This record gives sequence, C-alpha cells and structure tokens, in this order.
Amino acid sequence: MSAADVFARIYGTAPRVLGEAPGRVNVIGEHTDYSGGFVLAAAIPLRCRVALSPRRGRTIRAFSESRAADGILAYELGREAARRGWLDYVQGLTRTLGDEGGAGIEGFDLAIASVVPPGAGLASSAALGIAVLRALREAFALRLDDVALAEVAQESENEFVGAPVGIMDPMASSLAPENAALFLDTRSLTHERVPLPQGGALAVIDSGMPHEHSRGGYRTRRAECDEAARRLGVAMLRDLFGNDPNEIARSLPEPLGRRACHVLGENARVLDTVDAFRTGDLRRAGARMRESHRSLADDFEVSTPELDLLVEIATSRDGVFGARLTGGGFGGSVVLLTRRGEGRVAAVDVAAEYRRRCGRDAAILLPAPDPRS
Ligand code: GLA
Repeated sequence: MSAADVFARIYGTAPRVLGEAPGRVNVIGEHTDYSGGFVLAAAIPLRCRVALSPRRGRTIRAFSESRAADGILAYELGREAARRGWLDYVQGLTRTLGDEGGAGIEGFDLAIASVVPPGAGLASSAALGIAVLRALREAFALRLDDVALAEVAQESENEFVGAPVGIMDPMASSLAPENAALFLDTRSLTHERVPLPQGGALAVIDSGMPHEHSRGGYRTRRAECDEAARRLGVAMLRDLFGNDPNEIARSLPEPLGRRACHVLGENARVLDTVDAFRTGDLRRAGARMRESHRSLADDFEVSTPELDLLVEIATSRDGVFGARLTGGGFGGSVVLLTRRGEGRVAAVDVAAEYRRRCGRDAAILLPAPDPRS
C-alpha cells in the first residue's frame, strides 16, 4: 500500500505532503566515516515512503505500516522522551530540529510505509530519517539543504536514539543519485557522483542474520579508532591518510594497530575503486572489494562466519568481480559487483549454495526479479 493510502486509511483524510528516501548499499569504504574517511555508496531501489499533514497544536501522531500492531503513537513537540521503539526515530528528528533554534515546525500526522529491511545493513533508519525530513521541509517550508538534512538525521540518531553512527548513511540516502554511486569525503562532506562502469551491476544478499545486536561491537570499534587517533596525536585517523598503514599499525598496541591498519588501507581502497569505476576496470574494483572484506574480517573483526561464507561462495563464481560485507557488519548483508545482467542469476546461485553449506536462507534484496522472466 502507498504511504498516501496508509495515511488516508488511518487518519481519514488525504495527506498534505509526501516524502521518500532510499536505503543505500555501501560499495566500499566501511568503518571509515567516523574517522573522517572516504566512502563510495549507492542508493538502492528499496525506499521508505511517508505521508504527512500538519495539524494545529503541538501533538504529533505517527503510524508505521510495518508496525501496525502498535497503532497510532503520539507525543508532544518539545516533550520528546525516548521509549526504545521506532517512534524514537521520529522523536529524535523533531527534538533535533527544535534544538536548532525551533526550525518552525508544529504538530503533524505521519504515516510511514518502508520496504527497506531493518537489520540488513542497508540504512533503513537513515532512509526513514531523510524521508520524514523531506516531508517536514516541504510541509513547513524549512530552509535546510540536502546536506543539512543528513546532518539533522545523524545528530538525531546520535543524540536521541543513542546509536553512535557516522554520516555515511544519511548522506547517501539524501544525496546518492539513482544508477550511480556517491563518492563522499566524510571530513569535508564534499561529494561527487561516480557512475557504475558499463557492464557492471550491484547485487545485495542478506545473510539472514540481523545485526540488531551490533551496537555494542560498533561502539567498541568506534572507541578503538578514536583511541588509536589519540595515541597517534591526530584528531582522527583520516589525518594520517597517505602514511603506510602497516607502519602506523606497528606503532600501536593490539588491537588498535589492526583497527588503524584497516581504516587507513580502506581509505586507499576507496580512492582506487573510484579510479577503477572511472576507467571502467571492473576487475580492479572487484579486487579492492575482496581486500576490503578480508581486512574487515581479519583486522577490524566485524564479519561473521555467514558473511564470510557468502563472500567466499560469491567470489568463486564466474561473473562476480568482487564481494564484501556491507554496512556495519556483525550480520546483515553482502554486496556483489557482477557482470551487468547476471546479478540476479549469480545471487540465486550464491544463495542456493549458502543454503546447502550452512542451512540458512539468504534473501536476495537486489536486483529485483526480472518481471519478464
Ligand atoms: C553503519 C553506520 C555507518 C557506518 C557503517 C560502517 O552502517 O550507520 O555510519 O559507520 O556502519 O561503515
């Protein structure tokens, strides 16, 4: 059902504005964004859609189609209080907008219809944040550009929801174009569109192991990177870009050395992948993705046996140039760079072999099945 239909069914009137935003798949540049590093992420055709109407007063009512059993949840603007549920993602946005000088919003009714799967590493919360912010921007004529929307979404998750995530996901959801990747410098927030090479395509397979319990691990990795930077006398690891990762690693105790080695090496791999995309070199881009996965598994230690197995199966298959875990890790999905037109077949084969070897069902999230077949 469309967000407008959900809205009409729940609130009994047509919505005033609609908003939507995509999930993202990170091609390469993992666990670099909170150290000011580089990422190359693409928007995916799975989107979060919302419908919204301003209402008089300061009451906010929200309904999520995927949590229909919760019914309509409500709170008062300016009296946001975390409840550890999906409504926190909405409350965080209005609190953050309010903190930023009362950006001029009032009460509203909201309906959410998202098909970005939660826990799959595809930035479902960023898609929700950007979709709601786009609708609020239109409904209340907020003077926020697309980068500012991403900053509000990140601050909301960091400060209100309590997830210490970086800027990659909301930037990708807000700015990544269709059919191309977004090359982002997370220190300066400069960003550039980089088309996928002719003949290449992305596929995404969910391992079936959600990463909900990853927060502790994610937080620890983030603290380790901050500590490595502190010991090395820089504000963030990005400031050491250009140095030999192995040499830097040797000057740190374990595990900080391996963590820094991953981050510095990953930044270099992003730049090389961007160059490979520009020159149409799918093999080189695939090689960097495979190296990224190894580094995430061995040095950053955020992979799982299931993600490793999917990558192993995928990369041994003809027509797959590279594969790696995508998102924060500890579960979630892998991304494959395949020959164009072969993504679906490759993903179906990989999922079948995965089932045979570990007994789990993997879900193919991208590409969608060909409607003609
Ligand atoms: C999660 C976070 C991002 C980023 C990735 C790892 O998806 O939301 O900010 O740190 O993990 O690259």
